[in-house]
Amino acid sequence: MVAAERTNNSALWMVGFRLTAALLASVPLLRLLLEIMQSQLGPDPGEVVTKALGLAAFQLLLVTLAMTPLRKITGWTGWIRVRRMLGLFSFFYAVLHVLAFLQFIVGWQDLWASFTKRPYIILGMIAFTGMVPLALTSTKGMMKRLGRRWKVLHRTIYIIALAAWAHFLWQARSDIGEMVAYGTVLLFLLGWRLFWSPVFRHAVPPNRP
Ligand code: HEM
Repeated sequence: MVAAERTNNSALWMVGFRLTAALLASVPLLRLLLEIMQSQLGPDPGEVVTKALGLAAFQLLLVTLAMTPLRKITGWTGWIRVRRMLGLFSFFYAVLHVLAFLQFIVGWQDLWASFTKRPYIILGMIAFTGMVPLALTSTKGMMKRLGRRWKVLHRTIYIIALAAWAHFLWQARSDIGEMVAYGTVLLFLLGWRLFWSPVFRHAVPPNRP
């Protein structure tokens, strides 16, 4: 009875945690919609919308990458149970970002020229294209079907994050302080993984003083 109650409590707690995570991940979109309704986007609304959606995609990519370290540090598996949802939110914002780019910045004609015009756009396209197979194979069924290959495929997230960050840095016109701060967080998350990877662990003698 006590054990069943505890299980119900933790299931309820998990539902609450997932809902909170979904709500927080929706904040950039809700904020943008509110600003659109109140006409608060300034003289170039298209640029503001495109940038806000790109930033949300990148921020959620970082949050998704932070879930594994948080699990390791806290020992709580709940972080992993929201990881897929957060990754899909990141992809969702990336899709909206690309659509906004086409709708508000370059238009829908001559797509090839639009996507290859500048190096930072090419980097954005590399990051976006890389996100597509990850989103498509994010289900439990695909995870089972792909087996070990799923892990290998999903490791491309590190390259995607680096390409997205380079895209972010490259499009900056003057102050790059924000990009450097995000880059530091990204390097920390990637460095942490490298430190915990079996290759590195095995390279360190177990009883080093
Ligand atoms: C085909 C793919 C993509 C295209 C064509 C594209 C295009 C753009 C453009 C044109 C801007 C600058 C907006 C402006 O200055 O008016 C921008 C900014 C940005 N993009 Fe992308 N992007 C792509 C993919 C991505 C992806 C996949 C991410 C992240 C996961 C991303 C994150 C960002 C960020 C963070 C900014 C800067 C936002 C800011 O300054 O606050 N982009 N993108």
